[in-house]
Amino acid sequence: MKFFIDTANLEQIEEAQALGVLDGVTTNPSLMAKEGITGRNNILKHYVDICNIVDGDVSAEVIATDFEGIVKEGEELAELHGQIVVKVPMIKDGVKAIKYFADKGIRTNCTLVFSSGQALLAAKAGAAYVSPFIGRLDDISTDGLSLISEIRQIYDNYNFSTEILAASIRHTMHVIECARIGADVMTGPLSSITGLLKHPLTDIGLEKFLADYKKGNS
Ligand code: E4P
Repeated sequence: MKFFIDTANLEQIEEAQALGVLDGVTTNPSLMAKEGITGRNNILKHYVDICNIVDGDVSAEVIATDFEGIVKEGEELAELHGQIVVKVPMIKDGVKAIKYFADKGIRTNCTLVFSSGQALLAAKAGAAYVSPFIGRLDDISTDGLSLISEIRQIYDNYNFSTEILAASIRHTMHVIECARIGADVMTGPLSSITGLLKHPLTDIGLEKFLADYKKGNS
């Protein structure tokens, strides 16, 4: 399972990269705004800065919602850096644009996916990644993880190469359950990755090992 971090914060991206388990980054307009990145040139520069920190794919989202606008913006984003994946919303013009980009060899991440039908469409159009938002489904009392299972089954039935990028991950159990189901990728906050480290028995065990060593070597 690939680990992506879902942030535009360069320090957090550096921290995850330094851990040695990071495979990529996802961003969205809200995450960019949270970091105070505004203005087209600053936004484009920030994407390049992110690409220069990580080795893997970096999703950069289009703002346009019409076919021509999505294509123009997506082509500009794709030219920025070889690691950029163009993030396109699951709307009619978005699906058309995903097909256009696929034919041109430009990789896309279809975002804002909340149903298996939408995921099927994204795969048919040739998206490299599909992003089902599991946390936001959980927020409205709908089982986000069931959606990951449904999409896994559909993609396996037809050998779709589109990777399931479990998005809107909120905590470590989302990561673990997605790994059990077989999501190809997860994207979440830094805490959803570093939280996997934690177990009280590890801390207690290490404390005891070090104390015993000290006893015999002081
Ligand atoms: C996906 O790529 C999105 O950026 C993200 O996972 C949304 O997560 P949220 O629901 O925590 O905003």
